[in-house]
Amino acid sequence: MPSHEDHKDVAVDPGLDLFAAIDSLRREMNAVILAHYYQEDDIQDIADHVGDSLALAQAAAATEAEVIVFAGVHFMAETAKILNPDKLVLLPDLEAGCSLADGCPPREFARFLEAYPGHKVISYINCSAATKAMSDVICTSGNALKIVSSFPADQPLVFAPDRFLGSWVSRQLHRDLVLWPGSCEVHEVFSEKRLVELKALHPQAVVAAHPECPEGILQHADHVGSTAAILAFARKTPAKQIIVVTEPGILHQMRKENPDKELIPAPGADEACSCNECPYMKKNTLEKLYLCMRDRTPEITVDPGTAARALAPIERMLELSR
Ligand code: 13P
Ligand code: SF4
Repeated sequence: MPSHEDHKDVAVDPGLDLFAAIDSLRREMNAVILAHYYQEDDIQDIADHVGDSLALAQAAAATEAEVIVFAGVHFMAETAKILNPDKLVLLPDLEAGCSLADGCPPREFARFLEAYPGHKVISYINCSAATKAMSDVICTSGNALKIVSSFPADQPLVFAPDRFLGSWVSRQLHRDLVLWPGSCEVHEVFSEKRLVELKALHPQAVVAAHPECPEGILQHADHVGSTAAILAFARKTPAKQIIVVTEPGILHQMRKENPDKELIPAPGADEACSCNECPYMKKNTLEKLYLCMRDRTPEITVDPGTAARALAPIERMLELSR
């Protein structure tokens, strides 16, 4: 059986109808395909569920399929595996990582926590299984306010690994949080100066931004929320122009849902680079999706001890999000 490494060199017959081939494998394998809003358009179109991190974790928890094909990044597939230790969980490209997860190495995080005895630990789902295993509860951008609010006001809290999401939550709830200093390399490069210029060019436009963006960006937003919340805002707003400050993969669903609205992606600081495309999310392609299903690899594995410890905080999040 070819390994995932081999996939780099495998050429798929250009005459193959990838949509039909993936669909037939899905039925043969009894697989469910979960895709994040930042995946390329074709992957979103063939998925059984397209969603934000919370909706995809909920779909993974609820599925009766034998195989979960996760078109997203590693921490998402890892969460699905922790929830389904007996199922085969596939990720089209094992190199689909995340700067937030990579920026919070478990050993350093354990040392960091030693300085905060008596604190409860809330970890954003964008982290490794080992970091989740050191947490009391997991959150996503869709439920972070609710999860933090579930703790009594006098309970000291550590929030990791996204300092921008953490400081947005802290401002919204007027609550101190000890923040791990991580960030998303995609959302931190939006340019406040260029956003202000864009707003001046489109004075009727509203701004929807993801809370992984720095405060300088969020202060110009009419709406701040997860990808699913940004989509809901775009559907509801009477405004005909929306400036979108998150990864541009979201525009695919937004265009389908709002054919009458003008969607304006916010620029990064550097005009010459498409730095707002998540390089990890974009590692997955329709071709790799097909190959991972055909060859049943690369498979996500999680050390059973770590998985057992990470399960409780994930389940606590799912319980609090019902
Ligand atoms: P959500 O889709 O949960 O808002 O997360 C965005 C993101 O950056 C995922 O990595
Ligand atoms: Fe990680 Fe940012 Fe990419 Fe999301 S957009 S997967 S947070 S690097």
